[in-house]
Amino acid sequence: MNILVTGGAGFIGSHLCDELITQGHKVVVVDNLILGRKENIAHLFSNPHFRFVQGDILDMPFFDAVFANTAFDCVFHLAANSDIQKGGNDPIVDYQLTFSTTFNVLQCMRKYQVKQLVFSSTSALYGETSDLLTENYGPLQPVSNYGAAKLASEAYISAFSANYGIQTWITRFPNVVGERFTHGVIYDFIKKLKKNPNELEVLGNGEQIKPYVYAKDLVSGILFVWENSHERFNVYNLGVSSRTKVKEIAQMVIRELKLNAKIVYTGGERGWVGDVPEFKYDLSKIHQLGWSAKYTSNEAVRLAIQKAIEYNKNGYPTI
Ligand SMILES: NC(=O)c1ccc[n+]([C@@H]2O[C@H](COP(=O)([O-])OP(=O)(O)OC[C@H]3O[C@@H](n4cnc5c(N)ncnc54)[C@H](O)[C@@H]3O)[C@@H](O)[C@H]2O)c1
Repeated sequence: MNILVTGGAGFIGSHLCDELITQGHKVVVVDNLILGRKENIAHLFSNPHFRFVQGDILDMPFFDAVFANTAFDCVFHLAANSDIQKGGNDPIVDYQLTFSTTFNVLQCMRKYQVKQLVFSSTSALYGETSDLLTENYGPLQPVSNYGAAKLASEAYISAFSANYGIQTWITRFPNVVGERFTHGVIYDFIKKLKKNPNELEVLGNGEQIKPYVYAKDLVSGILFVWENSHERFNVYNLGVSSRTKVKEIAQMVIRELKLNAKIVYTGGERGWVGDVPEFKYDLSKIHQLGWSAKYTSNEAVRLAIQKAIEYNKNGYPTI
């Protein structure tokens, strides 16, 4: 298939490109590199089935030309703002990078009659609730601008899917960890400890508890949903059933780096504006379809820390 991956130079997108190329697809990546890195996909540049186009999805003449040049069979739309804190400080960030990018993808898909869309969504759209988060939970009340922009994206995707014949797979995932990460709790902790190996500042009280899924695991789940769910509009939670506390992650990072740093908590039950300190994710729908993650939350966290350290030793500019 001819596949467009938006945000393909990012953390998850680059792992997805690896897998799509391995499966024999032809992949075009569009990324403006505001958050992603060329290094994440550099190993694919010599592959004749892979093409990287640097540019901004919000620049419609540019983006339209990408669709005019290639007849895509499917779009994997991953481009978005991944700096949730930045989005909390400035609401325009998620409106543009998370929502408007989706709208532009849909407009081009409609114009060029691309029939399949796989969308990377998030647990953040469920908001803050102690209820079990199933795919049909509602009304949805996100508490971050990022979650709101993803919910708005899903709403437009639903309408375009109904009106213009775009078959859709929406996968909603929680925190994703692994090599090539561009952001997130492990990334932040390692960065802080590089600056000051004696002390680690943790945002909040460290009691925030969430599921963490390993990036390569997640990619296998996204592709599994795409290949095995055949409705016009398919929605799945993807992730792991287990969860890890932020304070445990801090301890694991310190241990793996062989440091003796003191952990200092800023206090309060959430790390930043829009942070959801705890949620329970229902995965029965994806388990019934036949997929479950290989690694537990703790295993994913430990593996991600080890990979980050390994990559840094090799001079990889992860952090
Ligand atoms: N990482 C997670 O924990 C997580 C959790 C749930 C959902 N998601 C979703 O998965 C997707 C990928 O996330 P990620 O963690 O790989 O983030 P990432 O920041 O590494 O990747 C996003 C990519 O999109 C690109 N991009 C952003 N705006 C663009 C624009 N206007 N034009 C072109 N490119 C643009 C960035 O440069 C970046 O390479 C996102 O949609 C994100 O919302 C991620």
